[in-house]
Amino acid sequence: MTHGPSWWQRGAIYQIYPRSFADSDGDGVGDLPGITSRLEHLAELGAEAIWLSPFYRSPMADFGYDVADYLDVDPAFGTLDDFDRLLEEAHARRIRVVVDWVPNHSSDRHAWFVESRSSRDNPRRDWYVWHDGDGNGGPPNDWMSEFPAVGRAWSFDDATEQWYLHSFMAEQPDLNWDNPEVEAAMHDTLRFWLDRGVDGFRVDALQRLAHDPLLRPNAGAARRHDQDWDTMHDRLRGIRRVAEEYEDRMLVGEVALQDMHRVVSFLNNGDQLHLAHNFVFCELEWDADAFRVSIDDFEALASDRAWPAWFLENHDRPRVASRFDDGTGQGAARARAALLMLYALRGTPFVYQGEELGLPDAEIPPDRVVDVDGRDPERAPIPWRPPSAVGPGAGFTTGEPWLPLSPDHRERNVALMAQDPASILTLHRRLIAFRRRHPALSVGSYHPVIEAHNDLFAYERRHRDERLFIALNLGHEPRRLPLPDETARGRILLSTTGDRDDEAADESLSLRPDEGVIVLLDPR
Ligand code: GLC
Repeated sequence: MTHGPSWWQRGAIYQIYPRSFADSDGDGVGDLPGITSRLEHLAELGAEAIWLSPFYRSPMADFGYDVADYLDVDPAFGTLDDFDRLLEEAHARRIRVVVDWVPNHSSDRHAWFVESRSSRDNPRRDWYVWHDGDGNGGPPNDWMSEFPAVGRAWSFDDATEQWYLHSFMAEQPDLNWDNPEVEAAMHDTLRFWLDRGVDGFRVDALQRLAHDPLLRPNAGAARRHDQDWDTMHDRLRGIRRVAEEYEDRMLVGEVALQDMHRVVSFLNNGDQLHLAHNFVFCELEWDADAFRVSIDDFEALASDRAWPAWFLENHDRPRVASRFDDGTGQGAARARAALLMLYALRGTPFVYQGEELGLPDAEIPPDRVVDVDGRDPERAPIPWRPPSAVGPGAGFTTGEPWLPLSPDHRERNVALMAQDPASILTLHRRLIAFRRRHPALSVGSYHPVIEAHNDLFAYERRHRDERLFIALNLGHEPRRLPLPDETARGRILLSTTGDRDDEAADESLSLRPDEGVIVLLDPR
C-alpha cells in the first residue's frame, strides 16, 4: 500500500446519543449546541470521529429512530444551522462527523407514509409494505417485531383495510426497498448530508433492509424470510456508490446478526460497507476463550480488504460496568480492562458516550420508564460536573433531566475524573494517545497466544520492529504467564491498574484479576 490507513481505520469513533450528551437550553433534553459546547472533551480524549444518533425531525416514539423528515433537525435538538456549526467546529478540531441514517423505516408521521396510507391507489402506496391479511382476520404472515413488547410486525389500517409491515414499533413503518423510487429517494437523503459535509453514515438496522418480497413465513423455513435477504448486497452496493460520489466518506453498518460469515460478507469485496458493527463479539460473556475465538473467526473469514471494528457498548446495550459485574464488585475493573482490549485490538474501536467514565447503568424507577425495549438505563445523561458545583443536573442540564442520572454521578463525572490520574477517564485518554504513538496498536498485525491459561486472553501486535504483547486476566485469581518466545524481556508500558508503568517483566508476567497490560517486548 502506498498510502497510510484511512481516518476510519486509525482512531476511535465515539458515539453520541444527542438526547443525553449535553443540554444547552435547560429543557432536560440534550441538543446540538450542547454537543458543540463540549467538543473540547472529545478533542482531549483524542476521538478521531463522532457518530451522532438521530437528531432528525421525529415524534420520538423511538427517540429519533422514527424519522418524520430526513432533511431537517428536530426542534428539540436545534436547527440545521446548529448542525452546520457543530460540523464546522468539529472539523476545526480534526474530528470527523458520522451521522445515523435510518433507511429501513420512517415515522408513521413522515409525509410519505401519510400519503401512502391515505388510499390504496395513492402513488406512494407502494413506498411501504402493504398487504391483505391471511383471510382469517390475522396478519399476512408470522413475522415479529424486533421489540418483544410490540409483538407482531404488522398493524392493520382500518381506513384502507390492509396491514403494513413494521420491523420495530407500529410508529415505524418499513419502507419498501423493493420499489426503485424508494431507493432513489433514500439515496437523495444521503446526498443531502454528504453535500453538507458529513464524513459518513452509520446505517441503522441494516439486516432489515431486505426481506423476502413474497412475504413467506419464517415458521418451518430453513432460513429467515423477514431479514438479510439476497437483495441485501446489491442494495448496499447502491448505497456505497452514493458514498463514493464524494471523497473519503465511510459507511458503518449495524449488522445485528449472530453470524460472522454474514458480518464479513458485507466487507470482503470492498464494495459494500467500510466497517460493520459486530454483534457476535458485542454479545459475548466475560470469557477469555470466547473473545479469542470470536476474533479468530473474524480474522479467518475476512479478506484482506475487510477491516475489523469492535464495540461493547451502545445506546441499545447494557453498560459494560454493569453487565460484566458478576456481583463481586468487579464491574469497574472490567470496564477498564475492556477498554484496553478494544484499543489494542486490530481494528477500529467504537466507544459509547460515558464508556470513558466507566458509567454503570442507571436505575430507572417504574414511573420514569420511557423506552419500549428497556434501554433507558444505558441512555442516562452524561454527568459533566459535581452537583455540588452546578446543581442536580450535574452540568448536563439546568432543568430536570429526561432520564435519571446514574447513581454514582457525584464522584463519576467528567470534571472530577479529568483531574484524577487514577481514573478510567485518564486511562482512556492514555489509551488513545498510545494508539496514536504506536503504529503496532493501530495497524500492526494480530497474533493470538493460545497456550495461556483459560482465564487469560493474550495476543501480540507487530509492526516493523515493534512488538507489543497485550495480556488480560479475565478470571478471579492472580495469574502468571510466560512472555512469548524469542523475547529477552519486556517492559510494561501501561496497565489498567495504573501503578505498573515501566515495570520490567523477565520471562513471565503476573496479572491481577481483571487487569490488562500492554508490554513492549525486547527482541532477544
Ligand atoms: C437500531 C437502533 C435502535 C432502534 C432501532 C430501530 O437497532 O440502534 O436504537 O430502536 O434500530 O430504528
